[in-house]
Amino acid sequence: MVKINSIKVSPSLINTSCAWSSNLTQLKELYDSPYTGAVTTRSATLDGFPETESNTVAFTRTTVSTINSFGYSPHPLAQYLSWVETILTTSDAPKKPFIVSIAASDPTTLRTMVQTIQSLRTKLNDTPELSTIAIELNTSCPNIHNAPPTGYTFPSLLPLLTVLKEEYAKDESLTIGLKLPPFVHRDQFLAVLDGIKDLCIPGEGDSVKCPFAFFTSTNTLGNSLLFPDQTDGEETGEFAVPTALGGVAGDALHALSLGNVYTFSQLLNNPENALLKGISIIGAGGVTSKEAAERMRKAGAAIVGSATLFGKEGVRAFEIIAGN
Ligand SMILES: Cc1cc2nc3c(=O)[nH]c(=O)nc-3n(C[C@H](O)[C@H](O)[C@H](O)COP(=O)(O)O)c2cc1C
Repeated sequence: MVKINSIKVSPSLINTSCAWSSNLTQLKELYDSPYTGAVTTRSATLDGFPETESNTVAFTRTTVSTINSFGYSPHPLAQYLSWVETILTTSDAPKKPFIVSIAASDPTTLRTMVQTIQSLRTKLNDTPELSTIAIELNTSCPNIHNAPPTGYTFPSLLPLLTVLKEEYAKDESLTIGLKLPPFVHRDQFLAVLDGIKDLCIPGEGDSVKCPFAFFTSTNTLGNSLLFPDQTDGEETGEFAVPTALGGVAGDALHALSLGNVYTFSQLLNNPENALLKGISIIGAGGVTSKEAAERMRKAGAAIVGSATLFGKEGVRAFEIIAGN
């Protein structure tokens, strides 16, 4: 069991936010699986995101990898919250938390979203000891036209992170995480940690509290290209996805994701970053086998997440990763 602020995740294996955690049936199946310790919803915006035929996913032929051109979910946040409430109040499966993935481009919208989530937490009697809902801010979708992932330009995220800090200051039982993009050099990791340090708030006595309880590392690697002959589908179209460029995940991303989890883990354990020591890492990227999950844990992940294998195998993916 892993405790992250007010949520308990057991077993420490989850789905990460993806196109296959998008509707009630999918979320319920994830919730009912004994192999998932929490369920992450697909990233939602306040009003829903327009989806077209160009938003799609292709699986590769020779490895367990994907390229996808999806933006955020077409379903608005309110729809996810209603599904989450339905599942939490009607399922016979042992209680497990939902990680509600959200995306917003301005502070006012984000505040509305967080406050709506908080209203549901109050209704569900979430407590500081045991909560059923956490928030993950997606800072790293590579497929949004004219909106580069803010995780790569960390100072541009500060207005949104300030909203999260203020909402946490009102209620420290709110568990908040950041979904981060794959980084490729050390300064990018330091930019995240330095930016977050400035958002810590005073605790009891001399102590300081960090509003962010976890990082989910990594999202897909954007600006990637695959051709149809590399995919397991019909070879129609010029590229594997109609947009040509998309985000790559699965085996093709694994080494970079491991490197990201390792680097964050090392930096968070460095005494220079003592303020941030409580941040847990959810490791994702190419967790397509039991061995890959073990590598993620060795690299420093407290919890392991999967999207691509889940897309390929359905909820059986978590049984495979657990080694059963
Ligand atoms: C089809 C697809 C859709 C995705 N949608 C989201 C999303 O809505 N929000 C998000 O934070 N990450 C999204 N991701 C990224 C995954 O959560 C995960 O971080 C990434 O795919 C790496 O894990 P994997 O190698 O197990 O797929 C998506 C990934 C895929 C393959």
